[in-house]
Amino acid sequence: MPGRYTRREVLATGARASVGMSAICVPLLEAPRAAARRQTTVVRRDVGGLSASDPIIVAYKTAVQAMKALPASDPRSWTYQAAIHGTFATPVQPAWNTCEHGSYWFWPWHRMYLHFFERIIRKYSGKADWALPYWNYEAATERQLPAPFRDASSPLYTSNRGPGWNSGAASLSAGTVDTSSGFMPTDFTTASSILEGTPHGAVHVNVGGWMGSVPTAAQDPIFFLHHANIDRLWNLWLAQGGGRTDPLGDSTWKNRKFTFFDENKNQVQLTPCDVLRCAQQLDYTYENEPPEVNLYCLKFILPWKYLVFVLIHFPLPPIELLQRNTIVKLDVRKYRERLAKLAPSKTDTLLLKLDDVVAARQPGVVWQVFLGAPKGANLTSDSPFFIGNVALFGMGIRNETPKGEKFMPASFTLLADRAVQAGLRANPNGILPLQFVPTGPLVKGRQVVPKLRSKVTIGKVSLSVLNQKRSG
Ligand code: C2O
Repeated sequence: MPGRYTRREVLATGARASVGMSAICVPLLEAPRAAARRQTTVVRRDVGGLSASDPIIVAYKTAVQAMKALPASDPRSWTYQAAIHGTFATPVQPAWNTCEHGSYWFWPWHRMYLHFFERIIRKYSGKADWALPYWNYEAATERQLPAPFRDASSPLYTSNRGPGWNSGAASLSAGTVDTSSGFMPTDFTTASSILEGTPHGAVHVNVGGWMGSVPTAAQDPIFFLHHANIDRLWNLWLAQGGGRTDPLGDSTWKNRKFTFFDENKNQVQLTPCDVLRCAQQLDYTYENEPPEVNLYCLKFILPWKYLVFVLIHFPLPPIELLQRNTIVKLDVRKYRERLAKLAPSKTDTLLLKLDDVVAARQPGVVWQVFLGAPKGANLTSDSPFFIGNVALFGMGIRNETPKGEKFMPASFTLLADRAVQAGLRANPNGILPLQFVPTGPLVKGRQVVPKLRSKVTIGKVSLSVLNQKRSG
């Protein structure tokens, strides 16, 4: 997709941009608000608290059905809206295939997309105060596909989901929905990258079917509830404080314009500055969220400067991920002391990076990644050696590259501080095993591994340090 940055470039840009930008800029005027605003704030509810007959669900059904009945050329139609996210259809229409993955516009782009989608649903449901619910799968009681989406007679249903989802037998495992790694970094790009992988990508691949691939994902009505949750995580990440902020010192991030269509078919553009404050600029909040952190493009303080450098590039042959466990050995002997200091440090974060990750097609399998686990250790997602998932979605899949666009390999950023500390203790020889364990959804509570549809190759493995210094 045009203008895409690799994560490394983004981090470098962010670091460069923040140097010398640590000043406080006084607000001259507030960023403009999105057009056609509602007057009151609506609450995006947790779908777990909504029955099939709840007016929110009923209105969603009504509108989805109406959108499906519109001609595909209408930008408000179900087909067109899904194609804005991704499609294989040609000729490519305005705003199609414009979703941002693997870049630091992942959060703002999807926020804008949901905003206009929500307005279109309001129009076609006739409910002016409708708000998109969110799928709160981190709650142990909400790991199955929400019941209203499993009713075969409903417009919210599709048969294009992985086995067990529509019967209610399938559920997401704890390791799939874990946000603890992603919430840890105070750097925006790092947090966004980690959360884009887990839970975001891992949920997509686990649900499978249309949801499992970018060019079809937004055809499944659950897509928008999944993304409402991802959008909510942006607010929750900021609300933790500790210097967490949007990259407001980075004009490349702030000023990029994205194109959508509103409920009256008008082509509209927004920038990240237009979507920083959900309640003030877009008129919604999330049920049960802490007070929102209000950020302003024209008034910002950069609490930290970030620098990322590669500490160890492991000279490994390409790693193949298959239907069975894969183990490679990371030799950190020369870095033992350095790592022992860096891993517990508050100002340094160790990131395990997997780059040049490629598959011919959607593998349909998610690999849990464990670093430093000694032989015989329990490989579960609550172990200190668990560092996240490899779930290909959006990048790195050759046959999903939209027409006319360049294929881009995927990258994964995994938080490694805790695993390195535990791993150094468990492996006094300084050789840390890196393991990839194939997983999928739970079916009737049991872990299953879906049949692998394509192997995955990882070209590069490195350990980087994200260093944070107080600005100014
Ligand atoms: Cu643009 Cu969850 O995808």
